[in-house]
Amino acid sequence: MEHVLVTGGAGFIGSQLVENLLRTPCQVTVIDDLSSGQKRFVPKTAKFYKLDVRSPKLKALVKRLKPDYVCHLAAQLSVPRSIAEAAADASINIVGSLNVLEAVKNLSLKKFLFVSSAAVYGQAEIIPTPERASLKPGSPYALSKVTVEQYLSYYGAAYSLPYVVVRPANIYGPRQSATGEGGVVAVFCKKLLNQETLLIEGSGQQTRDFTYVTDLVQGLAAALWGGNGIYNLAAGKEVAIRELVLTLGEVMSQVPRVAYAPERLQDIKRSCLDTKRAASELGWKSNVPLLDGLRQTLRWQKSN
Ligand SMILES: NC(=O)c1ccc[n+]([C@@H]2O[C@H](COP(=O)([O-])OP(=O)(O)OC[C@H]3O[C@@H](n4cnc5c(N)ncnc54)[C@H](O)[C@@H]3O)[C@@H](O)[C@H]2O)c1
Repeated sequence: MEHVLVTGGAGFIGSQLVENLLRTPCQVTVIDDLSSGQKRFVPKTAKFYKLDVRSPKLKALVKRLKPDYVCHLAAQLSVPRSIAEAAADASINIVGSLNVLEAVKNLSLKKFLFVSSAAVYGQAEIIPTPERASLKPGSPYALSKVTVEQYLSYYGAAYSLPYVVVRPANIYGPRQSATGEGGVVAVFCKKLLNQETLLIEGSGQQTRDFTYVTDLVQGLAAALWGGNGIYNLAAGKEVAIRELVLTLGEVMSQVPRVAYAPERLQDIKRSCLDTKRAASELGWKSNVPLLDGLRQTLRWQKSN
């Protein structure tokens, strides 16, 4: 049986990836420091180790576990935090990733999957943005993802390490944190349920490519088992923040109250990914319409 190690496997996306993997005949181990993830999200049938990916203990643990595959998702993902504390961001996202790569480089892994981000494109010139577009990271967070992608290419060549990189767009769904720097969908859902006013930063005309978490997770699994190179994973649909608010209102059967705040520094104006490569090489496409995904997200938030 294949053994898959998932870092960040107690998080929003990681825990749902673990559930997906466990539906196939494989053994799954999670390493997570629970800084934003939750132990209750990790299925009981997965082995769990509470550990920081930067820990000096990581190498011995991974050597003992002898995974066949590694999915690396552990990261800090707040862009504002990455701007305010660039060194802390780099410590987790770059040095942490290097510690994982150092731990696996001589293990003859079958594949290393790195979850990068659409943030690497920054304000892209081509919309929808294909994988070959130039990278214009506009924050330390995005820079950390670009850097790890480049380290991976080095480790791939130097240690014959097979790897695959995925660049997800804005992911939303159950288990996403709505506190602090949670995704805009999670934050808006929570505010709506609490009858609070939604705060739109900027004009609300800025667009995002909202992608439901179970769609993404299916793409991650497809990339792990059969992918090679770099894949955008997204719904491939450009949705303005104002449109998101209207759709949320439709699901809630109420007109949300909205207030406007100044635009965020370096906020990306348009984001939409070209996913033809994932479709042709992985046979993957996103299936869940925004309305349905928002309904599921609200239902989960209500009961949590
Ligand atoms: N959510 C999105 O829209 C989105 C979009 C593109 C890419 N991503 C990437 O997907 C991955 C998962 O993100 P998520 O949305 O599930 O967020 P999340 O915060 O729920 O998951 C991150 C997980 O990593 C763990 N973690 C953080 N630092 C760690 C450390 N030093 N050592 C061990 N574990 C640590 C956290 O406890 C958490 O469980 C991240 O790499 C993120 O950059 C997310």
